[in-house]
Amino acid sequence: MVKILFVCLGNICRSPLAQGIFNHLAAKKGLGEQLVARSAGTADYHIGEPADHRTIKIARRHGIEIKHEGCQLSEDDFQEYDYIVAMDQSNYLNITRHPGYPNSRATVVMMRNFDTAASDLNVPDPYFGSMDGFERVYQMLLKANEGFIAFLSEKHQL
Ligand code: 4NP
Repeated sequence: MVKILFVCLGNICRSPLAQGIFNHLAAKKGLGEQLVARSAGTADYHIGEPADHRTIKIARRHGIEIKHEGCQLSEDDFQEYDYIVAMDQSNYLNITRHPGYPNSRATVVMMRNFDTAASDLNVPDPYFGSMDGFERVYQMLLKANEGFIAFLSEKHQL
């Protein structure tokens, strides 16, 4: 089993959506048992909270149900997961400055690295924007997750 942790700042917008899309695509490809994804935030703002209502709405529009309880990135996560996937450059910095990082078993990567057509590596934070921003984030995460699953299938011979 390959374990993936998607990480953003608040763990209510981008990373729960990334997790929902990833698990949906993995299940569709019959890889639901081999690929398991969760999500976390680098901040503690929304621990125990459900995903942002706009994240839930956008996901539902695309046929994905998000059940979520916010949690914060912990030192144990660096041992537990095979991949820790940052949504933007700021998340990446927060992850690599975390006390768990120096002994990390997990490989830390940027989400949009798996979208070869992406010109900007950041999945922008949609929190202070409109529903259009959430739809754009959904499309970015869909593309990147398709590339990520293709990468994982090859790398881990799934
Ligand atoms: P996320 O978005 O990192 O994609 O979950 C945010 C959600 C909440 C906050 C910031 C970003 N906040 O400041 O509360």
